[in-house]
Amino acid sequence: MQSGICDSIVASLGDLSKHYGSRKALNAVSFDIRKGEVFGLLGPNGAGKTTLLECLTGLRRPTSGSVQVLGHDPGSRAPELRRLMAVQPQEAALFPQLSVRETVDLWASFYGNHDPVDEVLERVGLAGEASQRVKALSGGQARRLLLAVTVIGRPRLLVLDEPAAGLDPQAKERLWDVIRKQREDGGTVLLTTHDMNEAAELCDRVAVLVDGRIAACDTPARLVSELASTSTVTFTTPAGTDLGPLHALPGVTVVEVAREADGRRTVQLRTTDGDLTLRRIAADDQLAAADLQVSRGGLDTVFRSLATGGPGRREEAPIRKEEKE
Ligand SMILES: Nc1ncnc2c1ncn2[C@@H]1O[C@H](COP(=O)(O)OP(=O)(O)OP(=O)(O)O)[C@@H](O)[C@H]1O
Ligand SMILES: [Mg+2]
Repeated sequence: MQSGICDSIVASLGDLSKHYGSRKALNAVSFDIRKGEVFGLLGPNGAGKTTLLECLTGLRRPTSGSVQVLGHDPGSRAPELRRLMAVQPQEAALFPQLSVRETVDLWASFYGNHDPVDEVLERVGLAGEASQRVKALSGGQARRLLLAVTVIGRPRLLVLDEPAAGLDPQAKERLWDVIRKQREDGGTVLLTTHDMNEAAELCDRVAVLVDGRIAACDTPARLVSELASTSTVTFTTPAGTDLGPLHALPGVTVVEVAREADGRRTVQLRTTDGDLTLRRIAADDQLAAADLQVSRGGLDTVFRSLATGGPGRREEAPIRKEEKE
């Protein structure tokens, strides 16, 4: 492997499979995580996301295939890797009698090189709770503390399993800032999420896992442009209007009456060319269309399509020159 490319790859999975008895939780999964990116793992419940994180962090042995993280096999539990990779710990890892600051101090003591404790408490939004006991924290506050102890040691790879679960909108914003700071500082993040908005906002690339297989892996923008090319056009028209001609409009794939009330119908069209469909409908005097709206597909459309067995794209885009070290 060329050294430039090698240095730019933080983690690499090759044909990774994990079976629990007869259940194939992961089935020949391959992808690379590149230095400095926020990589999102998406997929329905039971798709294999947590299993994948567990294999990647050395908590589980794969059934077959290879995993390399920062030059190590995570299964070897190399002490070096523990310093370089931080995994958001389970709640049980915290001591209920310690205060918030004592907890973060304790974690900081595990690392020779760490961020200032007060600065990290500020970053995760716990500066006001520094002297509060862990056992008295709310669920969301406890999750913020878990984030604090995960980032305190300046890990090169931060691994977070559904970090936004249970956070209020403000705490979510803070979490996103923490993740972005990790990237700004040259670190890498691997996270799982069910929030497509979060994935689109935060992630440089995402992989969609469905039934233990990678259904797609690319930047959110490229996935949306290639897999969510349909838009929905909605309008109202008088109840008796003939909708037959709508089927013949270029790009229109589905015509549905969503509602009928007070002598008007609400019609929804799926189309591969939202702008053209909108113009044609607006210009059609027979339709007497009103309340015209167009909504374009996003990452949620891609996700729904892939999760229900729609066409996937497995290949990764090649590493572009400027993305190499
Ligand atoms: N310890 C285990 N023993 C047996 N089966 C397991 C075990 N852990 C997970 N599984 C199964 O493996 C599959 C993948 O589970 P996993 O927890 O990795 O999914 P996930 O994508 O993280 O789901 P979620 O979105 O609900 O967190 C599921 O069918 C699950 O039932
Ligand atoms: Mg999970």
